[in-house]
Amino acid sequence: MALREIRKKGDEVLRKVCKPVTEVNKKVRQLLDDMLDTMYEAEGVGLAAPQVGILKRVAVVDIGEGPVELINPEKLEESGEQLHVEGCLSIPGIWGEVKRPERLLVKALDREGKEQKIDASGMLAIAISHEMDHLDGVLFEDRVIRYIDMNKEEE
Ligand code: NI
Repeated sequence: MALREIRKKGDEVLRKVCKPVTEVNKKVRQLLDDMLDTMYEAEGVGLAAPQVGILKRVAVVDIGEGPVELINPEKLEESGEQLHVEGCLSIPGIWGEVKRPERLLVKALDREGKEQKIDASGMLAIAISHEMDHLDGVLFEDRVIRYIDMNKEEE
């Protein structure tokens, strides 16, 4: 298990556009493993490579249905709309409502370098959309419609 440091808001690396992975090799698989460890340790549902300081188009997601690994993800189709409260491991303590597609079809390489298609809806579509934003230097706060005070909501 290898944890990597999660970069926080204000770190310039979070605002860069990531470069595609040119070869899915041992180093990329190590990055995926470390990112999953780091995400689970932080109790997040997704993590993108720039959040650990690596400007490559790599992301991991697990909404409780098992890990999804995305290398060079590309959006093929999207439809519908859903409004949901999101947070981000790079922006701790802040929550806000964001509009995302209800359904998202993406293609990406898996850890063997094979192309896979992922047909995501609901929470999985939200998480994948959020992580793909990170690869282009976009943070969820750029899309927030309304900030939520989680403490207030619980009263
Ligand atoms: Ni995030």
